Amino acid sequence: MAEEKILTKHPLGRSGKNISKQKYETLKKTILSALKNTQLTHTQLFNELNKSLRNRFSGNISWYGETVKLDLEARKMIERTSSKPEKYRLKSNAIIMKTEGTHYGVTQIAQLFPSLKRIKDKSLREKVASVWNEAITTGCGGKGWTFDELRAVKFTLLAGDIEMTFVEHLNSCARQCVAIADVLEKSFRCGIPIQRDYLIAGSLLADVGKPLEYDKDASGKVVQGKFGQQLRHPFSGVALAHKHGIPGEVLHIIATHSHEGDKVERSIESIIFHHADFVDFDIAKVLGKRAATK
Ligand SMILES: [Fe+2]
Repeated sequence: MAEEKILTKHPLGRSGKNISKQKYETLKKTILSALKNTQLTHTQLFNELNKSLRNRFSGNISWYGETVKLDLEARKMIERTSSKPEKYRLKSNAIIMKTEGTHYGVTQIAQLFPSLKRIKDKSLREKVASVWNEAITTGCGGKGWTFDELRAVKFTLLAGDIEMTFVEHLNSCARQCVAIADVLEKSFRCGIPIQRDYLIAGSLLADVGKPLEYDKDASGKVVQGKFGQQLRHPFSGVALAHKHGIPGEVLHIIATHSHEGDKVERSIESIIFHHADFVDFDIAKVLGKRAATK
């Protein structure tokens, strides 16, 4: 899927740059939050950007920072003071209230999880995207995740070092679920009621609590955070999804997909997802063990 781009503006009307919308949103959020309640010189602002985004951003932070800073000046969200040395400050609190939060919609979330587009019900598709938006922007101990960071998270902290990421695992499960549904519908000649929208939504949301469960330590390593020690992702995932109006059939998949659901009679969709999930997980454990003995 083509990456969504944005053409930046320039305060003097010069031509802007066509850059990744995700990178733009990351820099915009970081610049606005650095200038919240303070004024910074150019050097101070860029020191803050480098401090906040080091190891969390792929690309030249200074180049993207300058491009987005000029854009925010052109959009009158930040301005330069007339003091010496010149400083940057937010233009007005009213504007910041409206623009401070990053929001990822269906288009951006589908860049991470293309199967999102296979959910036929538009309202459910949008709700799944809004759950992911909240998980991404509020996870990592409240710091939020950039897309680059999330894409770099390993599949599981429990399976050793293998070449599979968390995002790839979710995509694998969503595709497996659809493939399993295709086979079962042909095999169960008595008829098998599979609610595909719920199956796909459940497969994409089963691990949505993990961005809340995971945090980064001082060295930038992904670890189980304090919240993750208190609540595993099936619980936090249900809480988050419920907030966004996700239907009970899908909450059931999130709640029961892992061993927490072993004492529950799983729905057909939950059985399918549970097995797809463990196909990946059990194979990852085998591969992790083999990699450790090499
Ligand atoms: Fe899980």
